[in-house]
Order: sequence, then structure tokens, then C-alpha cells
Amino acid sequence: MSASGNNRPIGVFDSGVGGLTVVRALMERLPLESIVYFGDTARVPYGIKSVATIENFTAQIVDYLLRQEVKMLIVACNTMAAVALKTVTARARGIPVIDVIEAGARAATANGPGGRIGVIGTPTTINSNAYARRIHALDSGARVYSQACPLFVPLVEEGWLDHPVTRLTAQEYLRPVLAEEVGSLVLGCTHYPLLKPLLRDVVGERVRLIDSALTAADLAATRLREAGLSATGAEVATYRYIVTDVPLRFQTIGERFLGRSLGGVDRVDW
Ligand code: DGL
Repeated sequence: MSASGNNRPIGVFDSGVGGLTVVRALMERLPLESIVYFGDTARVPYGIKSVATIENFTAQIVDYLLRQEVKMLIVACNTMAAVALKTVTARARGIPVIDVIEAGARAATANGPGGRIGVIGTPTTINSNAYARRIHALDSGARVYSQACPLFVPLVEEGWLDHPVTRLTAQEYLRPVLAEEVGSLVLGCTHYPLLKPLLRDVVGERVRLIDSALTAADLAATRLREAGLSATGAEVATYRYIVTDVPLRFQTIGERFLGRSLGGVDRVDW
């Protein structure tokens, strides 16, 4: 029997496995909420693809999740949030949409105006300037220093979370941003929260690390409450994972992102 009303699931989507960092934060922050997660594992990575391609893929995913009768959509993928948010909202049929860039921009500006903010992400996210635009909409006096870090995604998927190669790569990428004496650094990619301990060493104690997965979960909690859509607790929360390629790699890597076992993963038949 499918859930109804407030007990409908939240639809969370990403280009692949990385958005499970958002699912993990949601499970901790909102344990009563059911989740349908969609990872486009057959077409990942998105972070180096063109805007038109990403918009097209995003539209397909949103339509699929709407057919699952979700009550809210969470764009967990920073790259999709950067270049295809309009595609999501235009198709969402009025249900609330949360995205990691809005969440990250809010957290980055929460400490008061005029901050010096570093942003790291995939090349498509950084080239889109989406973080800088969203941060400036909230605080026109903020200074934003952005850096694409394309090697981080494969390094994280390789499991090199505390590896000398990753450390050296991080030092190299972050040198120009740290030279600007930023007070906070937005981890603008699904994969980067897994690098938090290593990045903490590289940036030092003074720089605030902003994990968009955690802030997206907080934002989701607020929006659900405001919209009167919070789960009632009358039904046990369920978690479904849907991918577009054979699930083996998703399953293996996914448990690292989720911090717990995944259970069943289904492959979509478009
Ligand atoms: N999920 C993407 C992001 O957050 C990273 C992986 C990809 O390039 O598809 O930007």
C-alpha cells in the first residue's frame, strides 16, 4: 500500500552515489520521514557535462520522482542545483523544492555580513557562478573565492579519504582560496563531506567548513514544518534507492557515504 498525505516520501536525487551524504543527514535529522533516492549512476559524472545535457537528465529524474508521489524534492547534487534548478521548479507541480546551494549559501552568510567565503565544487558548479550569485543575493557585501576541484570526486570514490595523494591535491587546490584568508569554506559537492577530517587539517581550525548536506537537512525540516507536511509517525519510515546502472558499485560505495547498510537497491526501467 502506498503512503498518503504527510507520510509520502521525500524525493532526493543526485548524479550518482554522492547524494547519499544528504540522505544520511536527513535520516539523522528527520527519522520519521520516508525517502526515495534516485542516483543516475549510468550517466555520472555530471560535474564535467554541459548545461543542456544536465537540464535534460534532470527533467527525466524529476518526472520519475513525481510519479513516485513524493511530497518534496531535494536536489542533493550541487551540479544540478547550479545549472538546472529552474528545470526542477518548473516541473515540480508546486511541491516544495530544496537544493544544496540554497542551503550552503544560507549557512555561509549566517555569521553576519561581509564575510570572506571560499567555495569548492565541480568545474560545472564553479563555472556556473551559482554559489556566488546565491551568496550575494543574501549578502551583497560578501566576498566569494571559488575553486573547482575535479580530482576530489574520483579520489573519494576510490576511498582515498586520508591518503597522501588526496592531501597533496587538497593543498594544491586550496592554496589560492586560503591566500584570500577566507573565514568559511563551502563544501559545494556531494562528495566533499567525506573529506572533512582531511580538509580540516589542510585549512586549519580558523576556517569554518560548511557541509551543505547537513544544512540541506535543516532546511528540509523547516520547510516541511512550515508547509504542514511533516510525517505523522503513524507509519514506519521506509527508504528506497533507485539507480540507472547495475547496482553493484552503488551498493559497495554507497554504504561508505550513508554510514550504514543500504538494503535493497533497484534499477530503474525508464
Ligand atoms: N553530485 C555531483 C555534485 O555534487 C558530483 C559528482 C558528479 O560530478 O556528478 O556536484
